Amino acid sequence: MNGTKTLTIIKPGAVANEYIGPILEKINSKGFHISAMKFFRLTQSQAERFYAIHMDKAFYKSLVEFMISGPVLVAILEKDNAVEEYRKIIGATDPTKAEEGTIRKLFAESIERNAVHGSDSDENAMRECDFFFSKIERFSKFGDD
Ligand code: CMP
Repeated sequence: MNGTKTLTIIKPGAVANEYIGPILEKINSKGFHISAMKFFRLTQSQAERFYAIHMDKAFYKSLVEFMISGPVLVAILEKDNAVEEYRKIIGATDPTKAEEGTIRKLFAESIERNAVHGSDSDENAMRECDFFFSKIERFSKFGDD
């Protein structure tokens, strides 16, 4: 994977715990450019569609409920090899398995309330960026939006 974009969501738990600032600081300090950003509360339909890939999983309903329980911060992050680079700094989905110093190790409460979402492939990153942002809401440093 060598795309330049990934999508992150700072989830309701991390927002409620006042972790927006520390998480953005980590993102910036690792050299990511924030090219788009929104702070809002997802509707049930948006959360269901965003996580439709997990529809068959036992945790789907609970995950959707959690994701609509409060506001989220959604952002497009840019860097060479963005998907992989961001996954390195967020750590494993399950915070008990995440490496020391990673965002999930520092700020997650559980595997579901795991502080942040990060795209898992370039293809999904493109789909997820398009899901949340129109062209006039993006300010790419690579000029390829
Ligand atoms: P995220 O990176 O947003 O992608 C899918 C989300 O589903 C994941 O982070 C977690 O919030 C949630 N999730 C994944 N696996 C589980 C699980 N085993 N139990 C509960 N929630 C999970």
